[in-house]
Amino acid sequence: MRILPMDGSAAAQVAALERETFSLPWDEPSIRAELDNPLSLWLTALDGGTVLGYVGSQTCFDDTDILNVAVRPDCRRRGIAEALMRELERLLPLRGAERITLEVRASNDPAICLYEKLGYAQVGLRKGYYEKPREDAIIMQKELAG
Ligand SMILES: CC(C)(COP(=O)(O)OP(=O)(O)OC[C@H]1O[C@@H](n2cnc3c(N)ncnc32)[C@H](O)[C@@H]1OP(=O)(O)O)[C@@H](O)C(=O)NCCC(=O)NCCS
Repeated sequence: MRILPMDGSAAAQVAALERETFSLPWDEPSIRAELDNPLSLWLTALDGGTVLGYVGSQTCFDDTDILNVAVRPDCRRRGIAEALMRELERLLPLRGAERITLEVRASNDPAICLYEKLGYAQVGLRKGYYEKPREDAIIMQKELAG
C-alpha cells in the first residue's frame, strides 16, 4: 500500500466511497475541484490503482480542518486510516499548519477511537450539527509538532 496525494485518476473511486460511506457525500466534481484548491490536501491509500481509503483536508492560516476520512469496508482495521492521518500530520506542518481540528458524529465510536489513539482531544460540542440523521458533533483538536 502506498499513501500519495490524490490525483485526478482517483477522484471517481473516492466519490464512490463517499456515496457508500456518508449520507451527504461529496460528488466527483467537488472532489476534482479540491485538486486545484491550494488550501486543500487530500491523500489516498492505494493498492496499485485501487483506492483503499482517503482523507481530505483544508488549511486556513495555521489551522487544518479534516473534511472526511474513510476506508473501504472490506479493508478496515488494518491500520489504513491511521497511516493516512499520520502522513497528513507529517505533511501539514510543511504547509504552515500548527493544529488539526475536526468534527465527528457523537455516535461514531470507531472514528473517535481512531482520533483518540492519534492524540486528538475533545475541545467542544456542536449541538445538532449533523443532518441525515440530526446528531451532535464532537469537536476534536491536535497540536502538530513543528
Ligand atoms: C473510522 C475509519 C476511517 C477507521 O478506518 P480503519 O482503517 O479501519 O482504522 P485503523 O485500522 O487505522 O484503526 C486505527 C485505530 O482506530 C481505532 N479504531 C478503528 N476502527 C475501530 C472500531 N471499529 N472500533 C474501535 N476502534 C476502532 C483503533 O484505536 C485502531 O487502532 P488499533 O487497531 O490498534 O486498535 C473507518 O471505520 C471508516 O471508514 N468509517 C466510516 C467513515 C467514517 O466514519 N469516517 C470518519 C468521519 S469523522
